Order: sequence, then structure tokens, then C-alpha cells
Amino acid sequence: MTNALATLTALDVAAVPFAIRAEKSSDIAARERLLDACFGEGRHARTCQRLRDGRAPAEGLAFSAVRQGRLVGTVRLWHVDAGGRAALVLGPLAVDPSCREFGVGGALMRAALAEAAARGHGAVILLGDAPYYVRFGFTTNKMGALALPGPFERDRLLGLELREGALDGAAGLIVATGAVAKPARAERARLRRAA
Ligand SMILES: CC(C)(COP(=O)(O)OP(=O)(O)OC[C@H]1O[C@@H](n2cnc3c(N)ncnc32)[C@H](O)[C@@H]1OP(=O)(O)O)[C@@H](O)C(=O)NCCC(=O)NCCS
Repeated sequence: MTNALATLTALDVAAVPFAIRAEKSSDIAARERLLDACFGEGRHARTCQRLRDGRAPAEGLAFSAVRQGRLVGTVRLWHVDAGGRAALVLGPLAVDPSCREFGVGGALMRAALAEAAARGHGAVILLGDAPYYVRFGFTTNKMGALALPGPFERDRLLGLELREGALDGAAGLIVATGAVAKPARAERARLRRAA
């Protein structure tokens, strides 16, 4: 492919619009495939997964990016107690490799943070690449006395206060506090058959 044609193709790809909307139950299979593709099967063993296992995301805070009818991005937020302070943990954030670098990840982040603020949440925490998340206001400030339930790299533990002072004095382990997840329809059917 010539350079000129490659540039044109990249522009065409970027020109196709996408939408951010609340996650639907019909998104789940595509979301899980996307997360497997982005993080590998070992993703279930990652430390932050301990904050999500068996829990439902915070109400109204699971989003999908959709493009030409296809799920191309996902982000969810989860209730935690962060060393004595109520907070949300954000993740996983993932965008389909074919749709990266034209704003899908940023749009998911901004939608999620705006909705979290609108719902009155005080702070969001995540484990991720600071050079990416700094653009949304995440820093290591007030994270120094917090820990995750497993191994983690300290410089990747980042926080953002949506309400000033929401993470003041946060110290100790970050633990899941979200509602217990209801089994998906397929799992409910399997449990009924087994009963
Ligand atoms: C990180 C991710 C969600 C970004 O999605 P995206 O739709 O490409 O993001 P955007 O288009 O909004 O932003 C692209 C910008 O982020 C930068 N960027 C992407 N990943 C980055 C990273 N890990 N560190 C620093 N910058 C990063 C790009 O260089 C680009 O910079 P520019 O705006 O200066 O050109 C996507 O690359 C992804 O799914 N990666 C695999 C999963 C993952 O790593 N998730 C995050 C866990 S830390």
C-alpha cells in the first residue's frame, strides 16, 4: 500500500462515527471477547479483578462504545471502600485495536467520569498507565497510604477527586463494597437445570 493510500484509509476509518451509551445485557458476550483480546485470558487473575469478582458495577456506570452496530469499547466503575473513604474503582477500560487513537477511549472516560460526578460520587481510583490517565486529571496524590488486595505497582495506583477532599486521609486496603452480581440469564438457566 502506498503511503498516500495508507493515510487515506486511516482517515476513512477515523471518520466513521461512534457512540457512547449505557451497557446493555446484550453487550456482555462482545465485551468479554474484547477484554480477552486486550488483556488475555490471564486477566481474571489480575489484582483489580479481586475488586470486581462477584460484584455488579455501580448503578448507571457501565458504558459501551458502539460503532456501526459493533461494540468497540468498554468501561465500568465499581464501588469500593478506599481505606475508609467511599470511592469507585474504574476498569477495565478497553478499545478494539481497530478503533484506537481516534478518541473512543477518551470519550468513554469522559462519559464515565461525568456520570459518576452527576450521581454524587466523590472519587475514582484506578490502576493504569499514568501517561494516559493524567489527561483526565488522575494523579498519585493521596494514593500513597492505600493498597490493593494483591500485587500492584505503586506508581500505577491513581486517583481523581470528583469532590474536593473526598480522598483526604484515605489509608489502608481498598476493598469491594458493590452489590452482589445477579447471575446472567444463561447461568440462571444452568442453575435451574442443576437444581
Ligand atoms: C488505552 C486505550 C483504552 C486507549 O484507547 P484509545 O481509544 O486509543 O484512546 P484515545 O483515542 O482517546 O487516546 C489516544 C491517545 O492516548 C495515548 N495512549 C494510548 N494508550 C496509552 C498509554 N498506555 N500510555 C500513554 N498514552 C497512551 C495515545 O498515544 C494517544 O495520544 P495522543 O492523543 O497524544 O495522540 C486503548 O489503547 C486500549 O484499549 N489499550 C489496551 C487495554 C489497556 O491498556 N487499557 C488501559 C489499562 S491501563
